[in-house]
Amino acid sequence: MRKKAIIEALGGSFSEEELKKSLSRIDIIGDLAVVKLPRVWEGRGHEIGELLLSRMTRVKGIFRQTTAACRGEKVRGLEWLAGKEETTTIYKEHGCQFRLDIAKVYFSPRLSYERLRIAKLATSGEFIVNMFAGIGTFSIVIAKKRAGVRVYSIDKSKAAFDFMVENVALNGLNGVVVPIHGDAKEVAAGLRGMADRVLMPLPELVYEYLPYGVACLREEGWIHLYTHQEGTSRKQAVEEARRKIRNRIEEFTVVKEISGRPVRSVGRRTYQIAVDARIVGGS
Ligand SMILES: C[S@@+](CC[C@H](N)C(=O)[O-])C[C@H]1O[C@@H](n2cnc3c(N)ncnc32)[C@H](O)[C@@H]1O
Repeated sequence: MRKKAIIEALGGSFSEEELKKSLSRIDIIGDLAVVKLPRVWEGRGHEIGELLLSRMTRVKGIFRQTTAACRGEKVRGLEWLAGKEETTTIYKEHGCQFRLDIAKVYFSPRLSYERLRIAKLATSGEFIVNMFAGIGTFSIVIAKKRAGVRVYSIDKSKAAFDFMVENVALNGLNGVVVPIHGDAKEVAAGLRGMADRVLMPLPELVYEYLPYGVACLREEGWIHLYTHQEGTSRKQAVEEARRKIRNRIEEFTVVKEISGRPVRSVGRRTYQIAVDARIVGGS
């Protein structure tokens, strides 16, 4: 995508600063683009959509995000702006393919680096539990990059689960990634003391579901979780998230090692933070 060319083309009618801000928030998912437009531009959505479409050669459909995805299974609201109206697409990342419907499931291309980072931390032979797996992205990237792992991959949304089943097959990982449809709290109860590594990629439920994630671990293991944290700076937000997560885990077990890194900005002075914790005495 040539942001500079788009900015130039729209430049006569919109302020450059606002355009840059808006374009930096475009998500490209397969052949679809999702854009967040400032309220003052909403009436010109189709015009902007057509322009974006003409400048983004691989993109076939443009949508505006109307509401953010929030707690639980709720996906982001979308309004069609230009190009194809069909919301199903195929997204490719790290040698894996994912079929999804952006109107029915939650998916963010912005976690791509995190998916590879966690895959590189996993070692062969590990039993991994992904508590909020969505369409299977983390689970499939890990299994593709680390031979010999087995990933139990849970999601409560039927739509996400169905796409996950399809994506596991699409990537040749039947029996390696095991899709499970259900509430992570209930499924985790049946996986007590089995996992070497647990993933919790859903900030809204992390504090509530942490005890269930930790209970899946063997005597010693890793938990990787994502949280939203306010802070005066990224560094301060990371420190605060690390402190709060450590305190939460220490309510019921021992933290041997804990680190954090900022993933992205998710609002004014609010950041998504990845926290990795090594835990002893999990189960
Ligand atoms: C943020 S998305 C996962 C994103 C995904 N890991 C990725 O890389 O794109 C969170 C997922 O958690 C699922 N979810 C919400 N509440 C749940 C629960 N109680 N148990 C299991 N899954 C849940 C949602 O359906 C959604 O698919």
